[in-house]
Amino acid sequence: MVLKICCIGAGYVGGPTCSVIALKCPDIKVVVTDKSESRIQAWNSDRLPVYEPGLDEVVKQCRGRNLFFTTDVDTAIKEADLIFISVNTPTKTFGFGKGRAADLRYIEAAGRRIAEVAKSSKIVVEKSTVPVRAAESINNILKANTKPGVSFQVLSNPEFLAEGSAINDLLHPDRILIGGEQTEEGREAVQKLCCIYKHWIPEEKILTMNTWSSELTKLAANAFLAQRISAINSISAICEATGADITEVAHGIGTDSRIGPKFLTASVGFGGSCFQKDVLNIVYLSECLNLPAVAAFWHQVIEMNNFQRTRFARRITEKLFNTVAGKNIAVFGFAFKKDTGDTRESPAIYICKHLLEEGANLHVYDPKVPEQQIRIDLTYSEGIEDCFKVDQQVTVCTDPYSAAVNTHAIVLCTEWDEFLGLDYKKIYDSMFKPAFLFDGRKMLSIENLQKIGFHVETIGVKTSRIQNRNVADA
Ligand code: UDX
Ligand code: UDX
Repeated sequence: MVLKICCIGAGYVGGPTCSVIALKCPDIKVVVTDKSESRIQAWNSDRLPVYEPGLDEVVKQCRGRNLFFTTDVDTAIKEADLIFISVNTPTKTFGFGKGRAADLRYIEAAGRRIAEVAKSSKIVVEKSTVPVRAAESINNILKANTKPGVSFQVLSNPEFLAEGSAINDLLHPDRILIGGEQTEEGREAVQKLCCIYKHWIPEEKILTMNTWSSELTKLAANAFLAQRISAINSISAICEATGADITEVAHGIGTDSRIGPKFLTASVGFGGSCFQKDVLNIVYLSECLNLPAVAAFWHQVIEMNNFQRTRFARRITEKLFNTVAGKNIAVFGFAFKKDTGDTRESPAIYICKHLLEEGANLHVYDPKVPEQQIRIDLTYSEGIEDCFKVDQQVTVCTDPYSAAVNTHAIVLCTEWDEFLGLDYKKIYDSMFKPAFLFDGRKMLSIENLQKIGFHVETIGVKTSRIQNRNVADA
């Protein structure tokens, strides 16, 4: 029986996951650790470091009862029966595999720390998304450093939560994946982890398999989702060139039950910490396995995403009479999707940088991303400072109305619900004319905006077609 759990890494994955485990398993003590003092302080305060609908209530209910946040990782490791590793695994920015392979140094460091301080046997669970066979590396490190009487079992238990719906995804997952060694000890460890999830998840939704299958399933699931978005985005480019409407096409495709409606919303490109990284992981894995055709196939998903972002950014300049130099542009939304303050790989970063390089002044508004984060994201790319002047060209605004004042265009990058209910007439009146609106999430009513007077550009629709349709409507 697992009575004490330790989690290494209190990020977007470790924090919410362990909070829900603590909520559903009041008999288990859950200690979440992080090397960052400020992150732990935030977890222990009223302002959690991660914005996730529903998370506050869960933490409030359990914190101090059976849920604890601390930087004292050693004590937590010593006490625990089971340890989740949820540290980040960014794409390498240096050396062999740069730009493709996952940087596993934090995972390795966690493994070494566990081997060093553990005085009793532990189950070590890989929660971070890792390349296939990473569990084996953790296993090797642990086995090579084992003390007498101490043994380790390494499991893979990848997370499928999406940011913004993490709590719901954790409470009602489609499935839980647990991979383990096909030995008696391995199966026993798998069962112990199953027991935790069985507190709230029906048994048939808990899938057990070998470790490598579990690791690959996680990468493959994200790659399939990313591939669908790149596929629909490629069709959106055809729509813009021909006059077909992407919403109609996506609906038509999605009603084929074999395809289904999910992940068919054309957008300015996918972002987030996982899709790009995991697809690149598969690319790198395929290259290492001498399967160049497989690598090229998956790499195209990333290239399509880059194409979509660039295409949208160029369209803005083009429509603004081929120059944005010295023009003011309001940017609505900076997070990689709604209901999260996370900006990792956010398409908004790419679009803003493109506009800054073209000499535009940006008024950025996002309901959840802090100003400092916006400035960091726009200032650095892999540690190199860009040529434009973020401090002079970027103003971060606290509401959308003030962001729009005296601008030539609005660029909507994130599909926050609040953008649906704004007074666009008031916004229009405060802008320079002609006033443009570029809807990167195709969430606003083109007709309503055009009635106000906006020139509207959206994903997957040819502009002339929109205008013709309105003339026909009138
Ligand atoms: C991470 C991975 O990026 C993802 O691939 C995986 O599926 C889940 O874990 P996330 O939780 O979103 O995702 O990362 P992040 O929010 O950066 O959290 C990681 C935390 O680990 C950070 O708070 C960091 O301070 C902490 N950490 C990192 C440690 O405590 N120790 C370390 O050695 C490294
Ligand atoms: C994803 C997976 O969904 C989740 O299962 C996995 O564990 C982690 O990676 P996340 O990155 O949080 O989750 O967000 P997700 O909702 O999948 O969206 C990713 C990106 O795709 C966002 O930028 C989103 O705006 C975009 N997207 C999503 C589209 O452009 N169109 C769609 O139809 C769906």
